[in-house]
Amino acid sequence: MCKQQLLKVLEVVEKQDTWRKKECINLIASENIMSPLAIEVFSSDMMHRYAEGLPYKRHYQGTKYVDEIETLVIDLGNKLFRCKHYDPRPISGMIANLCVFAALTEPGDKIANLKIPDGGHISHSIVGTAGVRGLKTLNMPFDSKEMNIDAEKLKKVKKEKIKLVVLGGSLFLFPHPVKEIKEVLDDTKILYDAAHVLGLIAGKRFQDPLREGADVVASSSHKTFPGPQGGMVYTDNEKISKQVAQAILPGLISNHHLFRLPSLAITLIEMLEFGEKYADQTVKNSKKLASSLYEMGFKVLCEHKGFTESHQVVVDVRENEGGKTVAETLERANIICNKNLLPWDNNEDTDDPSGIRLGVQECTRTGMNESEMEHIANLITRVIIKGEKPEKVREEVIQFKKEYSKTKYCFT
Ligand SMILES: Cc1ncc(COP(=O)(O)O)c(C=O)c1O
Repeated sequence: MCKQQLLKVLEVVEKQDTWRKKECINLIASENIMSPLAIEVFSSDMMHRYAEGLPYKRHYQGTKYVDEIETLVIDLGNKLFRCKHYDPRPISGMIANLCVFAALTEPGDKIANLKIPDGGHISHSIVGTAGVRGLKTLNMPFDSKEMNIDAEKLKKVKKEKIKLVVLGGSLFLFPHPVKEIKEVLDDTKILYDAAHVLGLIAGKRFQDPLREGADVVASSSHKTFPGPQGGMVYTDNEKISKQVAQAILPGLISNHHLFRLPSLAITLIEMLEFGEKYADQTVKNSKKLASSLYEMGFKVLCEHKGFTESHQVVVDVRENEGGKTVAETLERANIICNKNLLPWDNNEDTDDPSGIRLGVQECTRTGMNESEMEHIANLITRVIIKGEKPEKVREEVIQFKKEYSKTKYCFT
């Protein structure tokens, strides 16, 4: 029994590695692959250890090398994101948001957020992390044609006592009006959730939230930024950095999952070296995927704005049987994406929303450029519009993927 189960574990992992890594076109906008070097240092002895506290001020002995790596990570983070206080300890993007909520709000305070169909993440909402902190929320006005926050309309809610504005999101095509919102709500603190676009910020191909007026940035470390799964918070404000550090320990994180740190260091170094080229090609690719799908007959959002300025492409597939069916049908062709709520959906429509969200950051990382985006759009069109059997297209996808087995924009 025991042996059977052991073999089962090995078999399932092998299947996952073959299927998702070698045989699928991955268009999940929140994922990425680490570089070979980052993978190599991922399973070090650090995965067994504890290092509560800050480098060289730990609560345990035995941490001298962790101190060295974490100090390096902090220096590299400060350099890459041009900030003064980079903290890599939050173990995920959601926890990073919670650390900021715990630092800058009290239960009962009100935050301004985006509704989930407008692109807000569950961690910004009362059903998620904001609710866990006991916060109230005020949904920011959103222009679904422009797919952006309506800063003008936000002026009208100025009188509401807002403790923190949360910008950034999960459905995120265009830079948010950070500057304008800072002007409207001058002394209200702004948290910018960069989880999706961190790699584009690092590559200077998206807005730079700190320079535009955000007080603090919270993020994941594994979407357009191709690091190990985890989180981070950074700011230029010393007081906020101390409040966040206090929220982290003793508040929310004891062991900050040290095995992430060497891989994070490698990713930061590689993004300093290759980030601009990577981010640039990512945005070129998303624009090309969007325009190709549009020309082939899909309702891609925001044609009048060039479709996208991020890694994401958003398609309204109500005419094509809706987000659930489209995403499931594409999976049968080994094209992996997710169904997504769009601004005109209700929160309750999560099972069958209007849209799909496509992200090109992982394909880009394997060396795909504009011509490959056109090819992928064609494969999607054949399955969803022309009604070809997904299983037939799957064979082509497997063959196509064989050409893209290497990771680019990194040291080899
Ligand atoms: C905008 C945003 N913030 C936070 C998160 C949560 O990140 P994590 O999964 O690292 O907790 C996500 C996840 O996709 C996200 O899209």
